[in-house]
Amino acid sequence: MLLSIIRFDGRAVSRKYCIMNPFQFGSVVRGEHFFDRREETARIVETLSGGNNLVLFAPRRYGKTSLVFRAMAELENRGITCIYFDFLPIYDLRDFCRVYTQRLLEKQKGWQKLVSKLADWLKGTRPKITLSADGKAALELDFPESVPTPEILESVLNLPERIAGDDRRLVVVFDEFQEVSRFEKNRFEALLRSIIQHRKHVSYVFLGSKTHLLNAMFTERSRPFFNSAATMKISKLPLNETVDFLTSRFEKTGFSLSTELARRIVEASDGVPYYIQLLAAEIWQNLNGSEEKVVTDSLLDSSISQVVSLKKDYYAELYDRLSLQQKKLVRAIAHCGEGIFSTAFTTRFSLGSTSSTQKAATVLTEQGIIEKENGSFHVADPFFRRFLLDLP
Ligand SMILES: Nc1ncnc2c1ncn2[C@@H]1O[C@H](COP(=O)(O)OP(=O)(O)OP(=O)(O)O)[C@@H](O)[C@H]1O
Ligand SMILES: [Mg+2]
Repeated sequence: MLLSIIRFDGRAVSRKYCIMNPFQFGSVVRGEHFFDRREETARIVETLSGGNNLVLFAPRRYGKTSLVFRAMAELENRGITCIYFDFLPIYDLRDFCRVYTQRLLEKQKGWQKLVSKLADWLKGTRPKITLSADGKAALELDFPESVPTPEILESVLNLPERIAGDDRRLVVVFDEFQEVSRFEKNRFEALLRSIIQHRKHVSYVFLGSKTHLLNAMFTERSRPFFNSAATMKISKLPLNETVDFLTSRFEKTGFSLSTELARRIVEASDGVPYYIQLLAAEIWQNLNGSEEKVVTDSLLDSSISQVVSLKKDYYAELYDRLSLQQKKLVRAIAHCGEGIFSTAFTTRFSLGSTSSTQKAATVLTEQGIIEKENGSFHVADPFFRRFLLDLP
């Protein structure tokens, strides 16, 4: 993109190339911003087009949502309609019914034909036609009861199967699915499970950022979703492909990043895709604002410090909110996350009793501050870890 900069005094007119930062973080990445995950995409597509359900496990910010969007694009190419539904902003069951039906209806071509059927399928609801500012008409359902009756809830959950009919295939993606436990008092989980069990033309994908909760939902015998879906674990992006991605994105925008420094970016970000892109974006921005063309060790170091410094207030607040025991434990884990319940660890970091360490570890895990992987713990955000290590 070419940007003309015109000074207000009207004397000097300078021109500068304004290039978009080639690194993106914090939202779903698509197209050239998304790399690798070919095998994972193929497996998701095959499982769902084969009519099975799938649950995706991965720690926070590994790229679950982006991966599912990539798979949805391929499924749509195969003629399978995909509906993405995020549980995070949903605050109660009525809200769920309203937003879920809306997502389902949005995907229907010629939804006008559906109106009469809906009156039959969802008795007690009121269809509303809304007009957006640009004049587009949309169909919305109004749920008069503040708590939907079990019949209405069941009809709403059955809607994908009705819409699919006999000649269509649908895939429903439930993101941040662990949030359904907030509705548990209404036996929502059990009802959804029974609907899913009897589906014929609809496959479901479940994912979420609170891995421990999602894991419990699908692997504990006592839970309704136990054994209801094939499971897939997503790992970090492969190192060589990540290094190629980083070096080529710098190169394409006129800068140079050595393989060695690309590896250091991955290392400083603990290999987590979100943090890799965040740090690379910071380095790129610093380079773009200078006369330099080459990423150096010192630029990398100063960019890391800058990321920590930019998030300092947030980190300080996060840390302040923790109890004394949680503070001690998270600082200990920033140093070393192995054998945290052992006597040696307790003594080394003056943690008191094992039971209080266990309690603190549970809370820190629930809050997503630490994560457990292959038996050992680590601080989920590598820059928060640096913040903790820098504390006096
Ligand atoms: N395949 C990929 N290629 C490049 N960058 C990626 C990829 N996957 C993820 N990222 C980076 O990670 C960020 C987070 O991705 P995404 O939101 O898909 O992850 P998530 O696992 O769903 O996160 P959360 O746990 O917060 O829900 C993206 O904005 C992007 O910067
Ligand atoms: Mg996500």
